[in-house]
Amino acid sequence: MKLSRASGPLRGEITVPGDKSISHRAVMFGSIAEGTTEVRNFLRSADCLSTIGCFRDMGIEIEQGEGEDGETLLIHGKGLRGLRAPEGILDCGNSGTTVRLISGILSGQSFESTLTGDASIQKRPMNRIIRPLTRMGARIRSLKNNGCVPLQISPSGLTGGRITTGVASAQVKSAVLLAGLYAEEETVLTEPSLSRNHTELMLRSFGADIVSDPSAAEGPSVTIRPGNRLSGQKILVPGDISSAAFFIGAALTIPGSEILLKNVGINPTRDGILRVFRAMGADLSVLNEKEEAGERTGDLLVRYSRLSGTEIGGDLIPALIDEIPLIAVAATQAEGTTVIRDAGELKVKESNRIDLTVLNLKKMGAEIEETEDGMVIHGPTPLKHAVVETARDHRIAMSFSVAALLNSDVRYTEIRDPGSVSISYPGFYRDLDALMM
Ligand code: S3P
Repeated sequence: MKLSRASGPLRGEITVPGDKSISHRAVMFGSIAEGTTEVRNFLRSADCLSTIGCFRDMGIEIEQGEGEDGETLLIHGKGLRGLRAPEGILDCGNSGTTVRLISGILSGQSFESTLTGDASIQKRPMNRIIRPLTRMGARIRSLKNNGCVPLQISPSGLTGGRITTGVASAQVKSAVLLAGLYAEEETVLTEPSLSRNHTELMLRSFGADIVSDPSAAEGPSVTIRPGNRLSGQKILVPGDISSAAFFIGAALTIPGSEILLKNVGINPTRDGILRVFRAMGADLSVLNEKEEAGERTGDLLVRYSRLSGTEIGGDLIPALIDEIPLIAVAATQAEGTTVIRDAGELKVKESNRIDLTVLNLKKMGAEIEETEDGMVIHGPTPLKHAVVETARDHRIAMSFSVAALLNSDVRYTEIRDPGSVSISYPGFYRDLDALMM
């Protein structure tokens, strides 16, 4: 894929596709609920299709169709105990959310199951879920003894109890809470800082007995009590702020741009990018704010702005973890220094996102240094063309497609393996084209 700046400013209006985290959860919770769950604006991307595939393999009928609000699913849930033993190994593809959340559900089943996925997921750390789930009584084995998939999960009795995680991860939190649905007693989960709370909001709407205490003295906590049945729901998935991020970053940094991104999820556990760009001086407004089942949405009006450097760290990191490569790209155009710290988690995403962001931005002429848990960027610097290595990581491909539009020399920037965008945003290049017309 070759891109250059020649396009000029971004203008117009688009609706970004449905939220990936919420789409995964809708399929999972709908499958273990009783009755039908209707999901509108479902994200039909490779990761979410991996989740659908796993639940179909466990006997859940899921109808996919096109509705007024994009892709619509009808999930014919069979209740907490209605899944059937899969015949083969469950394939989670590239999806960390699928592996980790499903492990919580599988820990509570009366059958044995094995999970695996692609080359990238086979390197991602799973001890972060194996340990807390094991403490709750689950029997999980990393078949290669390396703390990664393939994982074999055998039937056991789950006890519940108090679980404290060392990492602010919604995937770990969700695995524990889902296992908590199958435990004998209540489970109280505490995390070091608040990670995205879609699981808590959606489980509550399905009827689970779940209470959050984000300001508990020992750290943000959630208590889940077993016993309640889940019942099928109607879910309208908001647009994914992590997908909107690429266009926000591009419009803020390409002179003359003005765009409207419709119906974007702005849950406060996900809106860190808006807070950071505003602190950098962005002209960014939220219009038409609404809320449904606890999830806030709005239309984002974004205009080109002169940005200045900022510091990003601490509790803000989980609220923008997936957006950091894009924020780094935008920071190359800001006046002054941007410091990103406390972001070590980026090293264990679909790729080492600190390494790849720094490597590629250096190639493009940015002044950027890698630190132990983040990076420091000095701006503004013009960017030049380069061949961008993506390690098939969708968010690196899309962040550097934005960087390519900032390339001020005449030659094209080449993005390696651009097809990875299908993991979270199959129509990314089509939507980018629409805004560049
Ligand atoms: C996700 C949580 C985040 C995020 C990932 C999706 C989720 O991971 O990076 O893209 O849906 O729960 P961690 O929870 O591991 O930080």
